[in-house]
Amino acid sequence: MDPITSSPIVRILNEDVRRYHRWSTPSILPGQERVEDFYASDVSISAGFFGTLVDHTGVFGEAERFAAAAQGADRTMFSVHGSSGSNWVVLRMLAMERQDGLVLVARNIHHSMMNAIKAFDLDFRFLPAPYDARFEALLPPSVDDVVSALDRHPEALAVIYTSPTYEGLTGNTEDIVAAVHARSEDCLVFVDEAWGGHLHFHGDLPCSAMAAGADICVQSTHKLAGGLQQTGLIHWREDRVDTELLEEAYREYVTTSPSYGLLASADAAVRALAACGTDLLGESIARTARLKAALRRALPDADLLDDPRWLDAVSRNVSGVDLVKTTLGLSRYALTGYQVAEALVERGIVIEKAGVSTITLITTFQLAEDAVEATVTALRDILDGRQLPGSERQAAPGNPFAGIDDRPVIRPHDAKRLAKSIGHEVQLREAIGKVAAEEVEVYPPGIPLILEGFRVGADAVRYLEQARASGGSIVARDTSLATLRVL
Ligand SMILES: Cc1ncc(COP(=O)(O)O)c(C=O)c1O
Repeated sequence: MDPITSSPIVRILNEDVRRYHRWSTPSILPGQERVEDFYASDVSISAGFFGTLVDHTGVFGEAERFAAAAQGADRTMFSVHGSSGSNWVVLRMLAMERQDGLVLVARNIHHSMMNAIKAFDLDFRFLPAPYDARFEALLPPSVDDVVSALDRHPEALAVIYTSPTYEGLTGNTEDIVAAVHARSEDCLVFVDEAWGGHLHFHGDLPCSAMAAGADICVQSTHKLAGGLQQTGLIHWREDRVDTELLEEAYREYVTTSPSYGLLASADAAVRALAACGTDLLGESIARTARLKAALRRALPDADLLDDPRWLDAVSRNVSGVDLVKTTLGLSRYALTGYQVAEALVERGIVIEKAGVSTITLITTFQLAEDAVEATVTALRDILDGRQLPGSERQAAPGNPFAGIDDRPVIRPHDAKRLAKSIGHEVQLREAIGKVAAEEVEVYPPGIPLILEGFRVGADAVRYLEQARASGGSIVARDTSLATLRVL
């Protein structure tokens, strides 16, 4: 094919992707019901006899009702822009409910949540979120922390947190819901369950947000729930959430040209999990257990996040752990997580996430039979002989989220506006202690480390420098990290 007219995207999808063992999203259920010819059957809203997504009519309403019943919600809507779009819609609803309203948010919320808070100029306070350096993981907020924040801000429109976290740690949602509902008739418990679309379909997995009583949650169908990329679900309880306002926010946002093929996959994946989730997820859970057992044997110096003593120690914040995720702490080795991830790619293996001294793998539905053996062999190859002497460990990076206040010095929305007039660029190190006028994060996990309107923390700067030096991907205006815009 002519190299000018031939699409590199088409080429990579046809020729390259399937050559890798993918321990990374999307997790696609191979056996789900499929659109036979994706191209021949692509169709628009003009074929209105199917019903319309935005009105929840026809086949779309039917699919939404099925998903709601399957996941224990009163109502469900499809997102056509993943959980990023869903978070935007829910926060828009909150902003319409009370202009200038306040929300209580966990520090580890995804940037889509933070960006929506900024865009709609909602006021917010961060909930304390303990950090575990060994696994580079922020934990969900504890019930006590939620209660004391709500006592200080009884006017809060919502308590918002991520559960499961990127590492698969679930919060104590049942207790948080009970505490919030006991204190406020209006305050919503809104769970970003982007990583938990599968939880409801296997009894050994932690309880899903809806089953734990959350008022509203979002899920990415493609992360762990079997569907193709780009879709998601918003589930809610009608007696707690203003359905009319939520639908208005949805109509403002949703594209007029949703891909029915992608929606079909989201619907088919939910139905497959509802029908055979115990078997399908049971296989993934068993395979994850095999992976962990093999890793323990092959790499006795690595730390595994499922250590029951550690989980017990963090039970104020953590109710359980997703059994299809594997996070390894590598601080006993002389390689960074980023270097290990790169070396794995060279061996035909893609993992979900790397950090300064951690890696996270997802047991996806599409993994081939030999994936566990191939991956353990590759990791042993990469890490054997790279142990630090004695019981030495790499110095754990300091908590990059430490030192950040629970509230901004100036609202991020205003900081953004002022950035153009009084903002100026300084060397990153000089920015410490000054108010940031732009956002910087490492992706993944996509949690902002430097936030507009907040003072720049020394630990955040050190962490960013370390992440960049060891191969992490920086998302910022200046990805070289030479400069930062401050007020
Ligand atoms: C906690 C969390 N929320 C939301 C998202 C966004 O999800 P999506 O990719 O479906 O837009 C992510 C993506 O990684 C995430 O980790």
